[in-house]
Amino acid sequence: MTLDMRLFSRFVSLSALRAEFPVLERAAYLNAGTDGPLPAAATRAAAAELERELLEGRSVAHFERRTELTDALRTAYAALLGCDTADLALTTCTTEGIAQTIGGLELARGDEILTSDEEHPGLLGALAAASELHGVEIREAPLGELAEAVGSRTRLVACSHVGWMSGSFAPAELAELEVPVLLDGAQGVGAVPVDVHALGCDAYAGAGQKWLCGPDGTGMLYVTPGLRERLSVSRRGYGNLADPSAGVEASLHEDARRFDTLALNAETVAAALAAAEVLGEAGWAAVHERAIALAASLAEQLAQLEGREPAPRGPSTLVSFASEDPEGERVRLAEAGVILRNIPDRPWLRASVGAWNDENDLDRLLTTLT
Ligand SMILES: Cc1ncc(COP(=O)(O)O)c(C=O)c1O
Repeated sequence: MTLDMRLFSRFVSLSALRAEFPVLERAAYLNAGTDGPLPAAATRAAAAELERELLEGRSVAHFERRTELTDALRTAYAALLGCDTADLALTTCTTEGIAQTIGGLELARGDEILTSDEEHPGLLGALAAASELHGVEIREAPLGELAEAVGSRTRLVACSHVGWMSGSFAPAELAELEVPVLLDGAQGVGAVPVDVHALGCDAYAGAGQKWLCGPDGTGMLYVTPGLRERLSVSRRGYGNLADPSAGVEASLHEDARRFDTLALNAETVAAALAAAEVLGEAGWAAVHERAIALAASLAEQLAQLEGREPAPRGPSTLVSFASEDPEGERVRLAEAGVILRNIPDRPWLRASVGAWNDENDLDRLLTTLT
């Protein structure tokens, strides 16, 4: 294919991508950092599973179908993180994967977890539990300075891959650390290219419902084989045991399935898989490239408007910008068909820009703001 033909076919597949998301017909949907737009294919896939369950009941074949679906989703998510399927657990959200990792380390008084000063409650909750339940000390440093801030008592560095407020990135130097690194990838996977080996992290927790446009209740946790050995697993059952019928002697799966959430339903997994396929068909490289470029263009245009300076940001898909009344403005924008969020305790609104958006969505936001 010539370059022109490649660009043309990319343009066609990205226009086709937009048509997959019914919400875009009525709104400038800029909220994937919270929950992505659902593609129609996802609801069709979920409905087909429920219909099957309705008509056929839920017996052996149903549980085989669940395994088939979870295997396929694990393969799809592992490809997105660039890891082996054996190192990838399925969770219900980013927060669950973070909690599994931090709780599983069984840290104690005298140990320290180093984190940044711009983390989300999804990570802060697990840190609070480690502190309150086990006396672990939590120390903060600016995201960009975390690698230098590691001390002799640091047992884990836990921070965002991409910050939820600013969209800035974890520093590359984290890859060089001896101490384990857990990345919160809620604003990473699906939004920007991710290669867990290049990031050099030991664990990476991500969401299925945000930039992968899946249903609520989907997520992933990558854990290296080395860290896997060190993490205890307190919740056990059919979902993560290799031989459940062995009773109290039952052992966990050898691979990362030991961290799997315990009850993922067929309709949710089918919807997540269908959503990932819709994006995959458009081409992941194109999806990332377009979203990052559109977000940069939005930031540039906001910078031209008085009182709308973008917050400092990295080359991500998030654009936070100034607002004198973030909560009130979010509501007014929603009434005008522009869906985004405000950042609590900051004078900012945050637009999440995906490959499914276009210049018209950005214009609609910009004209509604002025
Ligand atoms: C950086 C970050 N971490 C964690 C979360 C929580 O994600 P989840 O709902 O998948 O647990 C979010 C969600 O907004 C987030 O932005």
